[in-house]
Amino acid sequence: MKSENKVLIFDTTLRDGEQSPGASLNQAEKLQIAHSLARLGVDIIEAGFPYSSQGDFEAVKQIAQEVKGSIICGLARANKADIEKAAQSLEPAEKKRIHTFIGTSDIHLEHKLKLTKKQCLEKAVEMVKFAKSFTEDIEFSPEDAGRSNPQFLFEILQAVIEAGATTVNIPDTVGYITPFEFGSLIKSIKQNVPNINSAIISVHCHNDLGLATANSLAALSHGARQVECTINGLGERAGNCALEEIVMILKTREKHFGLYSQINTVEIARTSHLVSNLTGFAVQKNKAIVGANAFAHESGIHQDGVLKNKSTYEIIDPEQVGFKTNRLPLGPRSGKHALKSRLAELGYQLETQELDSAYIKFKELADKKKQVSDKDLISIVDEKQRESVTETFFALERLQVACGSGLPTASVELKDLKTNTSLKTSALGTGPVDAVYQAIKELVNIPNELIEFSVQSITEGIDAQGEVTIRIKHQNKIYNGHAANTDILVASAKAYLNAVNKLCAHLERIPVIQGQIVEEV
Ligand code: KIV
Ligand code: ZN
Repeated sequence: MKSENKVLIFDTTLRDGEQSPGASLNQAEKLQIAHSLARLGVDIIEAGFPYSSQGDFEAVKQIAQEVKGSIICGLARANKADIEKAAQSLEPAEKKRIHTFIGTSDIHLEHKLKLTKKQCLEKAVEMVKFAKSFTEDIEFSPEDAGRSNPQFLFEILQAVIEAGATTVNIPDTVGYITPFEFGSLIKSIKQNVPNINSAIISVHCHNDLGLATANSLAALSHGARQVECTINGLGERAGNCALEEIVMILKTREKHFGLYSQINTVEIARTSHLVSNLTGFAVQKNKAIVGANAFAHESGIHQDGVLKNKSTYEIIDPEQVGFKTNRLPLGPRSGKHALKSRLAELGYQLETQELDSAYIKFKELADKKKQVSDKDLISIVDEKQRESVTETFFALERLQVACGSGLPTASVELKDLKTNTSLKTSALGTGPVDAVYQAIKELVNIPNELIEFSVQSITEGIDAQGEVTIRIKHQNKIYNGHAANTDILVASAKAYLNAVNKLCAHLERIPVIQGQIVEEV
């Protein structure tokens, strides 16, 4: 297909996605997701907002250093300090982009920026020129474009393109616009901005009314050629356009739209799973493309149809997005070689040492469960992934819980890995999980508030592993924790420790972080 029909995929999971309350990621987690996005083949990775914190600055810098293939982008408000910081963090990147933005709607100009339209336009032009002194590839966003005066939008777009912007992004910041309106807006930009062909039109849609994907598609139909999106639709408030949805619409309805992306779609399921695992945001079961039920057929009529011919009720082959159809489970007698090849089929290539420790976990699980499914294997790899991106301060050594009609009591033994000592205590709670958490909290001795706790079963059956996700809060910062085990109290304790370890890592780095923050954004 012609290159003018190519749609650039700009992923902002690490920037807008990470702005979802409670989704915050540490540097190692961001790096792991960035590598996964590069494998997925996204054209541009928006790696963060470098000025917002020293942590974000360092994460963008490390991604710029280590992740190859995609353009690495940093966000900056339209001011010199933000742009300089973005440029500094992007310095090591093979291919870099600075994305600068300023509010253009009357609401933003009047209430947030206190600028006239003329001042706003001058600032935008000056800052695009300034950004251009660091890199050729400049993206400009008129924030809240969806509610901006179209005439002013045409003027500012013309001016920033003249100043050197190579991409102009049209954000529906508050998710207010509808597909018909958004398509018309893009069409009118094409008609009224004389130099529009010197830039790529991008769109950035939020999902407040559930229209982010539909709006992005409408824009593509009228000439936009870049979509900003996130894995699993993460993002501020109701989230952003979901990458997996826009990509699979273009692929499944290629004849209809005549457009294509270069995404390696078989990597979608794995990337979605990684993002969910590290952010602690479970994917809703009926989520399009990546939900657990997206390819399940429940009713007899549908099952009968699919058995006769898949096309009766299936528009996408699950393997196209990287879901493997159920194979025979492994069991206690399966060897390391069988584990290695099954993991490879699932897309996980483990190094010898990783495989050895995964095999130990696999054997423990197989002894308890007898049948270890693909989902169980993925949960073993998830745990290894979490361990590799979280420094361990405290590890669970022993847990004993007594509950029933009396007061639930938990006895916990932790290993403090920094001092190499054993810590023990017992605590009462309103229930067994509460008792476990009271005991751990006493041993860790850092005040924190449990703000979310959820359990999901990984597979069906009474012997299934329970997957616990929790969020704790310390001084207004939220840390997530995640763990799976056939015993949900052990999973609960480990999930809590996973969050506590992230909190400890953050506290250890705080002197550096505080010394560097210029202004909280
Ligand atoms: O939603 C928005 O307007 C943004 C901009 C920074 C592009 O995220
Ligand atoms: Zn946004």
